[in-house]
Amino acid sequence: MTERLTTNSTDIQRAGAALKAGELVAFPTETVYGLGANALDAEAVNGIFRAKERPASDPLIIHVHSLAQVPPLVKTFPPQAQQLAQTFWAGALTMILPKSELVPSVVSAGLDTVALRMPSHPVALALLKAANVPVAAPSANRFSRPSPTQASHVLADLDGRIAYVVDGGATTIGLESTVLELTQSPAVILRPGAVTREMLLPFLPDVVLHQRFLQADDAPKSPGMLAKHYSPRAALTYFKGEHAAQQLYEAAQVYQQAGQRVGVMISAVDASRLKELPTETWILAEDDNTIARDLFRAFRDLDARSVDVILVAYHARGGGLSLAIADRLSRAAEGDVVG
Ligand code: TXA
Ligand code: MG
Repeated sequence: MTERLTTNSTDIQRAGAALKAGELVAFPTETVYGLGANALDAEAVNGIFRAKERPASDPLIIHVHSLAQVPPLVKTFPPQAQQLAQTFWAGALTMILPKSELVPSVVSAGLDTVALRMPSHPVALALLKAANVPVAAPSANRFSRPSPTQASHVLADLDGRIAYVVDGGATTIGLESTVLELTQSPAVILRPGAVTREMLLPFLPDVVLHQRFLQADDAPKSPGMLAKHYSPRAALTYFKGEHAAQQLYEAAQVYQQAGQRVGVMISAVDASRLKELPTETWILAEDDNTIARDLFRAFRDLDARSVDVILVAYHARGGGLSLAIADRLSRAAEGDVVG
């Protein structure tokens, strides 16, 4: 059994001591729940990979509560990275820097770089302070499942496999942090998140999006770019073009005639244009912040309604979280993207 802890200071101290002692503790961040282990304890970090059934080839992010924790973890902390940290930390930006010898190789999957982030969630910061060690933490889901945005998602995937989950309620951003590779020039955004390219440009005028966001079929660079990711159990199709709603509607009819149970994610405006929608519908909010916040919960919700397929119509408006939403939908669709 995994114990659910509150966010009161007694529980946070307990969770912090457990982390320091090598146990696994899931905790809320502003993006998604993380599954933490003492990053300097290779055996504890191994436990993360076992609990998640995550391949050892996929490196982890180290979480810190202060800038002073960074220098021992990296070979160099260039002025540019320090400026980004001062600007975007605490927050949803993960920076990849050359790793020091102190970081066990299991954390970075044998790479000579390390990913670092200071989360802004007050509970995460309090826990990191209580542990007072750097904390390696991937998203607290089983490998390839949607990232958890509330404690019940963590328990659905990991109950009995980890010591504690600190229940801090639902996360606010809902999608994982922006991953920025800073060890090459120009810097590359490996995973889009709440800190967008537009926000980074004043500090990194030549920062680029990884090619996979510009053209299809590119070889993955971040091991986390494996196709199968963030997926509901049901097969998902992502309709993204101009005629997304109509195409979704036609596909839904075909599936229903074949006796399949169809789940649909669609805006209220699109839904009102269609005559008869399939049974299980999740209305997408009008704004990207809310869509992002609820996206992974929607996947889990439709799964719980036992649908066989999930059809999503989402029009990326550009800017803000739209690229991150489109990215997670494409990955969940495992390439089944129409339009
Ligand atoms: O918002 C987040 O980033 C959440 C919360 C818990 O902080 N964490 C998270 O971790 O999403 P995870 O492990 O699910 O995703 C980390 C991503 C993966 O795609 C991984 O491959 C990439 O970061 N990554 C980590 N270290 C890397 C490195 N040294 N080089 C390239 N990619 C790296
Ligand atoms: Mg993850």
